[in-house]
Amino acid sequence: MKYNFDKIIDRRHTNAMKEEGWKNYLFSDKPNLNIPYHNDELIKMWIADMDFQTAPEIQQTLKKHIDHGIFGYSKIFDEKYYQIFNEWCAKNYDIIYPPNQITTSAGIVPAINLLIKLITKEDEKIVITTPSYAPFANAVKQNNRQLICVPLLNENDKMTMDFNELEHIFKDEKVKLFIFCNPYNPNGIKWSIKDITKLGEIAQKNNVWLISDEIHCDLLRSGVVHNPTALIIKDYPKLITCMSVSKTFNLAGLLISHIIIRDEELLKAYNEAKNGNENILSLVACQAAYQYGQKWLDELKSYLDNNFTYLKTFLDKNLPLTNFKIPDATYLAWVNLAAYTPQDVDLTEWFATECGVLLESGSQFVQDGDGYVRLNLACPQEKLVQTLNRLLEGINKKL
Ligand SMILES: Cc1ncc(COP(=O)(O)O)c(C=O)c1O
Repeated sequence: MKYNFDKIIDRRHTNAMKEEGWKNYLFSDKPNLNIPYHNDELIKMWIADMDFQTAPEIQQTLKKHIDHGIFGYSKIFDEKYYQIFNEWCAKNYDIIYPPNQITTSAGIVPAINLLIKLITKEDEKIVITTPSYAPFANAVKQNNRQLICVPLLNENDKMTMDFNELEHIFKDEKVKLFIFCNPYNPNGIKWSIKDITKLGEIAQKNNVWLISDEIHCDLLRSGVVHNPTALIIKDYPKLITCMSVSKTFNLAGLLISHIIIRDEELLKAYNEAKNGNENILSLVACQAAYQYGQKWLDELKSYLDNNFTYLKTFLDKNLPLTNFKIPDATYLAWVNLAAYTPQDVDLTEWFATECGVLLESGSQFVQDGDGYVRLNLACPQEKLVQTLNRLLEGINKKL
């Protein structure tokens, strides 16, 4: 390994959400909660960013720009920017996005919020599948649109979309938009060509817009290949794709993502509403990531594969009723601990107070997450080992 993913980086006092923002995010409704651990003693396995430093190639390119010393108004003028993005997409996913359809956002969640406003009206309906990443539902509700949740199905131990139900719901004229998470957070499903084809068919038949959030697309297990929605749903103008370097290279704090909008009118409206310049350091980092980051990412993926293997071995040995399967995608492990934890407790609170581990339980997601916890495995293995030992100790103490 050329890169060191074992290194422990102290993130305290850097305004990191993971270190300082957990109380507000995880326990906003419990201001008086007493967690018998000091902040420094808690192991933070929650929020989906990584404990690893970004690729040194990105750091060096940023340092070069810092030495240049000018941080004036910036936008993407150089075609090379799109060329580099597309070289990444072509090499990894066999797809090229037309540069004139690519725009940016300070994040995928803000982009989804804006797109909801532009695509739908207040009394219209937006569909998601569950369990779901909560900000999708929040974006719908905060914009006063109606949220429709369609639970994923478990068929022979394989999670799938309920296409019959989706098709039935899409027929409602008030349904205007489906927010599709590809690959899926929280449980790391890689959608197959067949799944995406079917989704495309029913969306087109019923004229439903699709937002395909592909923020996790670079983080599949080594050798597993992501299926971009746009490659499969080829000419449907109502498809929007969201991509980002934020998860892949741990650059979420730089607030940049790419939004690919096929519909000319929507793209125009989006750009007018967004109405801003770009953060020059974000552009520099993003370009460097796509240009120089492949080797680092390959090694990161292999490190994550190892963490998943470690987790699976640990669970199979110590908590076999979890029946855990390594997901195809994301660095997030969605683990069913129902057999080992009390019912009717909030598992986020339970693990924080019993074990000093901060994780996101199923209740942090939109429905169908009972008994589950989501562990963020993008950390040095030493931290994972420590976490699992603490979880096991806490569970054994209470059994
Ligand atoms: C599916 C999904 N979309 C979006 C985001 C956040 O995106 P951003 O930080 O670009 O708003 C996350 C972060 O966990 C995510 O899992």
